[in-house]
Amino acid sequence: MIVIGGGPAGYVAAIRAAQLGFKTACVDAFERGGKASLGGTCLNVGCIPSKAMLDSSERFEMVQHELVDHGILVEGASLDLGKMLARKDAVVDKMSGGIAYLFKKNKVTSLHGLGRLVRQDQGGWVVGVGEQEFAAKHVIIATGSSPRELPLAPFGGHVMDNAGALALDRVPGKLGVIGAGVIGVELGSVWRRLGAQVTVLEALPGFLQAADPAVAREALKQLQKQGLEFHFGVKIARIEQTEAGVSVTYAEGDQEVTAQFDKLIVAIGRVPNTQGLGAQDVGLELDERGFIKADSHYRTNLPNVYAIGDVIGGAMLAHKAEEEGVAVAELLAGQAGHVNYNVIPWVIYTSPEIAWAGLTEAQAKEQGYDIKSGQFPFSANGRAAGHNDTRGFVKVVADAKTDRILGVHMIGPNVSELIGETVAVMEFAGSSEDLARIVHAHPTLSEVVKEAALGVEKRTIHA
Ligand code: FAD
Ligand code: NAI
Repeated sequence: MIVIGGGPAGYVAAIRAAQLGFKTACVDAFERGGKASLGGTCLNVGCIPSKAMLDSSERFEMVQHELVDHGILVEGASLDLGKMLARKDAVVDKMSGGIAYLFKKNKVTSLHGLGRLVRQDQGGWVVGVGEQEFAAKHVIIATGSSPRELPLAPFGGHVMDNAGALALDRVPGKLGVIGAGVIGVELGSVWRRLGAQVTVLEALPGFLQAADPAVAREALKQLQKQGLEFHFGVKIARIEQTEAGVSVTYAEGDQEVTAQFDKLIVAIGRVPNTQGLGAQDVGLELDERGFIKADSHYRTNLPNVYAIGDVIGGAMLAHKAEEEGVAVAELLAGQAGHVNYNVIPWVIYTSPEIAWAGLTEAQAKEQGYDIKSGQFPFSANGRAAGHNDTRGFVKVVADAKTDRILGVHMIGPNVSELIGETVAVMEFAGSSEDLARIVHAHPTLSEVVKEAALGVEKRTIHA
């Protein structure tokens, strides 16, 4: 088995395949600081470094503005950005080294370089890596995605993608962000907390349109309160780079506005990585947006070639990619590998955090459900009060007939962790009453989840 791509999809598929008895190699091209670094986008320039910087910047914000509420006075707090970035890099190095260790432990051969499909051979494939060729019965493509470029402003200079935005060596005075999506709000939050004045320019008229509207409203309110400035429904007309920075001209309503920024992050979505893979030469079928076409068992149009992760589209999330890695390896081993796409948690690591799984009320109605829902605020929770963070709420949406939970929507402290419990209940097709009758430790934030579930039948205790 050869897996092409060593991100969350590929490295997990390789480890699981090796566990199941396949002789497995994983080819990965990623380099950081001129050295091979396993873990793909997520570990090198995505999930992990962004969360490290979100954490550091949140602590800085707390020392400056929030500890005073706890009666802790810190004078003269200042920023050592170099050290903050070095800590982030150390986290990435450690985790990437961890994958190399896991490969050794599971006897996965790690190959560095670009992998490509060369030709079919004896029912299997020849895969090229640089000058070398390797034979494999099965090939799993997990080549991930790259940031989408704005034709008006190619990456480079003061225009940054996610990797550049995680490695700025100075806090920009004025930071522009194009795209109020997940990267825009997470990385915009990081630099705002570290001192930048952040302006986010979004093409769509609304904010976080995939989320529950009440969650999106609350998130926008909180982010604006923190000083992020948003402009919706804008159309970018011109972007010009000078030595000092970037000027962005955009239409907002019937006005044309020109804004000057020191740096500009472009975060307008991601495109699948299929270049250099030999896709065209061997006739690998892509869809109209360039994603590899794969069926529910991750089979492509080519025999014994499978594809998983960001490169096949769907939710571009690391945990979705990892689950597909496990599923494809198990399917190839004759087992019943499966991913439940109906219950994939989404988490946005802003402050407060945002998390959801399953259907919004509107989506549930569209699918023909009669629904009932319960909502409970963190402001009525003792632990949240102790934390000094009572922003947000949890909402549970259930089928009015069966009481089965259809969706859970959260904004508030630590909801990235709280969503896990609800996903488990949903995975077992649980009802709001199931969730409401589970004993939750007191005092914990998780009691908000229980109370929201109680709210479905209008029997909350504490509000
Ligand atoms: P990737 O991680 O992109 O890995 C693909 C690998 O294949 C890369 O190493 C690439 O170099 C390599 N490759 C490509 N072509 C070849 C080739 N021909 N030969 C050899 N190797 C090749 N998701 C979350 O779930 N939670 C988060 O908090 C989160 N935060 C994110 C933050 C940012 C800033 C970004 C950009 C993304 C974030 N994501 C997050 C999304 C997540 O990173 C992706 O969904 C995930 O990395 C997809 O995994 P993958 O294995 O499919 O692809
Ligand atoms: P995104 O799809 O989340 O958001 C892109 C935004 O840019 C959209 O709101 C879109 O309307 C807007 N946009 C597109 N073209 C535009 C234009 N020309 N002008 C202005 N706005 C424009 O994409 P993003 O933020 O780049 O992130 C990519 C993906 O990475 C996410 O979809 C997500 O799957 C993943 N990710 C996940 C994270 C998490 O799970 N916490 C964190 C960061 C990224």
